[in-house]
Amino acid sequence: MAAMRSFLDLSDAGGDALAAMIADAIDRKAARQGWAKGRADADRPLDGRVLAMIFEKNSTRTRVSFDMAMRQLGGSALILDGGTSQLGRGESIADTARVLSRMVDAIMIRTDDHAKAAELAHYADVPVINGLTDRSHPCQIAADLLTLVEHGKPLPGLEVAWLGDGNNVLNSVLEAAGLMKFNVRVATPPGYEPARAFVDQAREGGAAITLTHDAASAAEGADVLITDTWISMGQAHASEKLAAMAPYQVNEALLARAKPDAVFLHCLPAHVGEEVSSQVFEGPQSVVFDEAENRIHAQKSILLWCTGLLD
Ligand code: CP
Ligand code: NVA
Repeated sequence: MAAMRSFLDLSDAGGDALAAMIADAIDRKAARQGWAKGRADADRPLDGRVLAMIFEKNSTRTRVSFDMAMRQLGGSALILDGGTSQLGRGESIADTARVLSRMVDAIMIRTDDHAKAAELAHYADVPVINGLTDRSHPCQIAADLLTLVEHGKPLPGLEVAWLGDGNNVLNSVLEAAGLMKFNVRVATPPGYEPARAFVDQAREGGAAITLTHDAASAAEGADVLITDTWISMGQAHASEKLAAMAPYQVNEALLARAKPDAVFLHCLPAHVGEEVSSQVFEGPQSVVFDEAENRIHAQKSILLWCTGLLD
């Protein structure tokens, strides 16, 4: 491929490239209206190229959206399951990176430990994309930003409220805030605040980040409400955590505090009745299925950026 740019976090791309990705995704999505989902875009920019996807954790959206993104760009994708590949029997990340680099054009990895994704990128000489780690989920947030712009919410100055767990998805929201100049009010129970480094990074980028334990104040006047599962993959299903999270459920009372045209985002899978009520999840302000579809469109632009075909 023309260039070798890995996408482990949003800051690997930076604000200008992220804006270019959103614009490219909007154009490509518009150009495909009415086309069969498996049909390639007219320009087939990744014709003949192959993406290997390593999954050490479950996935529906990431798996299908990267596969469809590669098909629509004219290429293809294959899956290495953590359990049935030699990774599952202890082959090193370094050797896996060097072998796959001889065979495929790019690698996507979903893993429990961000250091593994970084090690893979270090040893690979093809682009490596983070498809979720314990630390971050940049592909998800690229799709979320696309969804907000598409729903008439230009990013600079936007007031985003995050309710619930201070997790990997929130870390990428904070990273995006610093890059795209929007503000985030984070409401978590005590002890579940986001990683300090992501808060500091967002503030250094010029975003106003508010940390609170009060869900109502975070939601007041917000343009966007976002939540995620209270128990992430790999975490113990602790009843104390669920109890601590209960006041942070995104329900109609909380949504009523936001702006009347506020939208609700959730990366999915959702646990309706826990982090979000059924009324909000199924309601008119919920754009979660646009958000899910946008994984395809955003990731096409990420793939093009990684391969040097988009700047
Ligand atoms: N949102 C998301 O990454 O979904 P999957 O776990 O299904 O890939
Ligand atoms: N925070 C969740 C996101 C799932 C897409 C997890 O890591 O399980």
